[in-house]
Amino acid sequence: MNIQIQNADILLFDRGEKPFLRRCDLFIREGCIAGIGEAPADFTADRVLDGTHRLAMPGLINCHTHAYMTLMRNIADDLAFDEWLFGNISPIEDKLIAEDGYWGSLLGCMEMLRSGTTCFLDMHMFPGQSARAARESGMRAAISRGLVGSGDDEGGTRRLHEALSEMEEAKGDSRLSFLLAPHAIYTCDEAYLRRVTQAAKEQGLRLHIHVSESRNEIENAKKQFGASPVEYLARIGLFDVPTVAAHCVHLSEEDIDILAEKGVSAATNPVSNCKLANGFAPIPKLLAHGVNVCLGTDGAASNNTLNLFREMGFVSLVHKGVTGDPLAVGAADTLKMATLAGARALGLEKTIGSIEVGKRADIVLLNTDCPQFSPRNNLISALAYSANGSEVDTVLVDGEIVLEHRAFPGIDEERVRYEVNRITEKFGKQE
Ligand code: NI
Repeated sequence: MNIQIQNADILLFDRGEKPFLRRCDLFIREGCIAGIGEAPADFTADRVLDGTHRLAMPGLINCHTHAYMTLMRNIADDLAFDEWLFGNISPIEDKLIAEDGYWGSLLGCMEMLRSGTTCFLDMHMFPGQSARAARESGMRAAISRGLVGSGDDEGGTRRLHEALSEMEEAKGDSRLSFLLAPHAIYTCDEAYLRRVTQAAKEQGLRLHIHVSESRNEIENAKKQFGASPVEYLARIGLFDVPTVAAHCVHLSEEDIDILAEKGVSAATNPVSNCKLANGFAPIPKLLAHGVNVCLGTDGAASNNTLNLFREMGFVSLVHKGVTGDPLAVGAADTLKMATLAGARALGLEKTIGSIEVGKRADIVLLNTDCPQFSPRNNLISALAYSANGSEVDTVLVDGEIVLEHRAFPGIDEERVRYEVNRITEKFGKQE
């Protein structure tokens, strides 16, 4: 289908990757951005979308989440990390079956689309269910089965096998890509981490792992390995594979040098880190060292939303507040983190991350005719500091309309809400 978006404010990036706006038409041919301001030859629109009072921006990219964890939203809050995870979340996860993971993930997709996210990097425990939910919703997804194991134990072997066969089953679906996700250094031993790294090299896959999230993790790594988590992972060769490292909260100067040198992408999850009182990643330093910093929400059990607009505002404000430097992380930085940097982290920079001729049309249309975007003094600032996601009106992924005037053409929203309520009744915590 060919789509023309008429007369919208389009968010573009200049050569220095600074965002700016241009008001013009946007032409989409067979899922691909075919013209900005100028129609390509022989273009006939099948659909024309009115861009009046609309801002068109590249779809946001959530670079670390566990979509199925929407099922555990608001179920264990205001608790210490260990009590939250081991006392509350893990016992509930043990009760879940694959079908539950599907409904939770689909709810996550709905929440992400409605707040402007078109692509997410998922770490999950239910093979096939994230892909199923992504397909159902029309979202683009980078899928990674969470891998936990030691040496060549049975469970770890099975999970690695599931990860690879899930990838095989989804071959040919251009909106899905795959990574391998060793969960963390405290849930995978060295032999298993080496094994997964080797598998990634053989398959040409990227890696996705939790790194340096809590103070305990750092202390234990120092005791156990005589190294920080980053030093340890570099030492065993894991960073020789392109890696998305989620969190990176507690880093030394040496750690930052390693991440920069190895080209590791740091996926920061500021709301989750603050909520669990883990601290906040040294984003200004990472940016100054040229590390690719992208943005994630983490799961809804520790956030409690999957809303990247909230994350963009927060990452900027928290670093201004903490460093005492109002220039520490600016609006332009956060927009880049949520788009271009995210695409780069996933190896999709030629496909998505910006509105450019030749890229796939993953585009969000925001309604700027709302109080929080008025007056129109600076729409870039409005995106970073005023938006809350409710401005998202229409969303395209791969040139397909997957949200129109905030309604899902392909999802029975009421059914999803019914199913997730039914599933969560078994946790015995509903009001
Ligand atoms: Ni996580």
